[in-house]
Amino acid sequence: MLPVVRSLLPGPTGEPALERHRLEQHYALPPAPARHVRANFVTTLDGAIEIDGRSGSLGGDGDTAVFHLLRELTDVVLVGAGTARAEGYGAAVMPDARQGRRLAAGQLPVPPIAVVTGRGIEADLPLLTPVSGAPQPLVLTTAAAAAQAPDVVRRRAELVVCGEETVDLARLLDELAARGLYRVLCEGGPALFSDLTRADLVDELCLTLSPTLAGPDHKRLIVGQRWNAAQRLTLAGGLEDNGDLLLRYSRYSR
Ligand SMILES: NC(=O)c1ccc[n+]([C@@H]2O[C@H](COP(=O)([O-])OP(=O)(O)OC[C@H]3O[C@@H](n4cnc5c(N)ncnc54)[C@H](OP(=O)(O)O)[C@@H]3O)[C@@H](O)[C@H]2O)c1
Repeated sequence: MLPVVRSLLPGPTGEPALERHRLEQHYALPPAPARHVRANFVTTLDGAIEIDGRSGSLGGDGDTAVFHLLRELTDVVLVGAGTARAEGYGAAVMPDARQGRRLAAGQLPVPPIAVVTGRGIEADLPLLTPVSGAPQPLVLTTAAAAAQAPDVVRRRAELVVCGEETVDLARLLDELAARGLYRVLCEGGPALFSDLTRADLVDELCLTLSPTLAGPDHKRLIVGQRWNAAQRLTLAGGLEDNGDLLLRYSRYSR
């Protein structure tokens, strides 16, 4: 039997896929309290996830639109401390219209940022700057690091212990769910994504493939410890925007 190879471009209907209601359908999440972990990354054709230590220049307008939509849809934004430091993460502020849609959906007007750290975060991270209307960030860490957290981190963030010496990622998701944060958007980075995937905790990967070659010596989508086995995903969606491929992969066939 011949393999089924389909043409994505030109598309079957030629309809613009990046209209808001279509994007919402495309990226719809299961209703709470179903748990769902979605990761979102942009990468070059040669697998780089940063240029000069940042990811912002990699994706185009469609990627940016999806980035903001995924934030609007999620209960919480989960991020590794390395990314929070490199990208200068602050609160996930968003326009009133987005906040209104979230409130109508029974969510907090702005999703909290939850940062994962083994060592603990520094007192001067922008994430700790209070922003009117935005919830306190969560710092998901070990008992050892929590015990040594600076006062300003204690005051301006909620410290959540997710293990004694190391962060137990399954426990971390339980802690989020206990706070009503079921739908998790992991914005990276590669160390956290690798650990979550190795622990089989990721349901979906949204991956924008930018038509760029970055060259050697850039961070890739996955860093850290070797895995025991490769993981196979299912292509669940594909959009195109000005040469960027906005792909959605599911861990399970839906
Ligand atoms: N292209 C993209 O879509 C994209 C997305 C995200 C990030 N990035 C890029 O990725 C780079 C950052 O890479 P990174 O490897 O540093 O990212 P990362 O995974 O965000 O950060 C690694 C750090 O996060 C904490 N961490 C991660 N997993 C942990 C675990 N299982 N348990 C405990 N702590 C954990 C640790 O922090 P402590 O050291 O505090 O213990 C670790 O050193 C930046 O250049 C950023 O621009 C790109």
